[in-house]
Amino acid sequence: MGMKLTLGEGGTPLVAAPRLSERLGCDVWLKWEGANPTGSFKDRGMAVAVGRAADRGAPGVVCASTGNTAASASAYAARAGLPAVILLPAGAVARGKLVQVVAAGAELREVEGTFEEAHRRARELADDEGLVNVNSINPDRIEGQASAAREIVEQLGGAPDVVALPYGGGGNTCAYVRGFAEADSGSPRILSVQSAERATTIGSAIRIVSPVHREQVEAAAEVVTVPDADLLEWWSAIARLEGLFCEPASAAGVAGVAQVRPRGRVVCVLTGHGLKDPDAVERL
Ligand code: F0G
Repeated sequence: MGMKLTLGEGGTPLVAAPRLSERLGCDVWLKWEGANPTGSFKDRGMAVAVGRAADRGAPGVVCASTGNTAASASAYAARAGLPAVILLPAGAVARGKLVQVVAAGAELREVEGTFEEAHRRARELADDEGLVNVNSINPDRIEGQASAAREIVEQLGGAPDVVALPYGGGGNTCAYVRGFAEADSGSPRILSVQSAERATTIGSAIRIVSPVHREQVEAAAEVVTVPDADLLEWWSAIARLEGLFCEPASAAGVAGVAQVRPRGRVVCVLTGHGLKDPDAVERL
């Protein structure tokens, strides 16, 4: 066992959102996961998953990604002194995330095909070469990401009534369900919000057609579907009304709340930083 692997992930701000609250008719709070070391919530899970891989003496880690998992795995592998192999759907990953992978010195392989194809190859590589797969099928990822729910309970002094977050593969939704169960302070209603245009959405982070955790998400959360026009509208509103600049996919929680109109204390998780996807700003 070496030192605990950390880059200072977690402990992110929970920011009151008075103008969004007024627009949406409920008490809105924003969990700002863009404040993590590589700019997304993935760091919570990667600290645990890559840390355990290093402790076990793994020869390296591998993942498929729409970008944020890649950026996070690359940074934590660098920190742990492990090689990382990163499989990305060619041409579908935002610029800031690619830059992060290159900066950390990970081995980047572009796969002709969808995220699902890259995910299949990552599992194969793990089997064939003994690399540890650090996608969210690795339970260490879910365990690490569950810390966000426990933090929210501490920050609010109790569980909120509703938590709304983006739904890509569904790992993070599972992590929140688990985290609130562990916090033992009552479980909020969880809105897991997907784009109606899963295959082509402007939120490239959640451009996933077949979510790996679909069964668990449908059992434990309410799935809400929003059109990309709503994602864009609320992405802009979050930045212009509250001053937090997230990436487009991260606006899904707020867009879902705008559709469902729940009452009470509502936490929307802003999963990733806006600087990761500078080209998307042309759509503002
Ligand atoms: N928000 C952002 C910014 C993401 O990067 C992701 C997933 C999600 C939300 C959805 O989380 O998949 O657990 O339901 N990104 C993965 C990646 C797929 O490769 O970075 P989920």
